[in-house]
Amino acid sequence: MFKGVLFDLDGVITDTAEYHYLAWKNLADELGITIDRAFNEKLKGVSREDSLRLILTHGKRENDFSQKEFDQLAKRKNDNYVEMIQAVSPKDVYPGILDLLTDLKQAGIKISLASASKNGPFLLKQMELTKYFDGIADPATIKAGKPAPDIFILAAEVVNLRPEDCIGIEDAQAGITAIKASGALPIGVGKAQQLGDDIALVTSTNALTIDFLKKHWQN
Ligand code: BG6
Ligand code: MG
Repeated sequence: MFKGVLFDLDGVITDTAEYHYLAWKNLADELGITIDRAFNEKLKGVSREDSLRLILTHGKRENDFSQKEFDQLAKRKNDNYVEMIQAVSPKDVYPGILDLLTDLKQAGIKISLASASKNGPFLLKQMELTKYFDGIADPATIKAGKPAPDIFILAAEVVNLRPEDCIGIEDAQAGITAIKASGALPIGVGKAQQLGDDIALVTSTNALTIDFLKKHWQN
């Protein structure tokens, strides 16, 4: 049996992936760069700084800003995002997630957070989910962000597990690649078109039951 579940947050536990998109779109608009939802698939799971680099490169403006200006742009996006998430509450937890966390806890399976977001701990608090998590991987301490495996390796480590004994749950292309590279077993929330047809997928978090996870682990 698997001993731990490594959760992505944005787009898996709640709908904050949408707020990230809106905040990046606001910033891109200000810079005269057009981004759409298809482009946004490349940003999902990717760190704040790497996301900004991708957007600037997309708009051919990667050489237009000094390091100080770059940092200010990243901060502007985050300030906008943080404003958007102030109202996040337990009502915003995606369907099925609370039951899954409860069942995992009862089964003695470790629960760890593998989010690239520095706002992860705040969001868990807003949704009153902090108490379910045995560990949180701090994205500020890793060398390389998703698609590198570091955050999933760290998320397993902070609950004293090997990634090989864990399931990782992700809604992002970069996140699925990271889980695969870590040695954990991936489950995707989303469609094969974005996440690939070689892994277990659910289209709604409602389907993420402990029985589904067990069945997938056995296969
Ligand atoms: C990931 C999101 O979880 O966190 C990305 O999918 C985001 O969209 C990244 O860029 C970093 O988040 P933050 O809150 O630290 O800027
Ligand atoms: Mg995500």
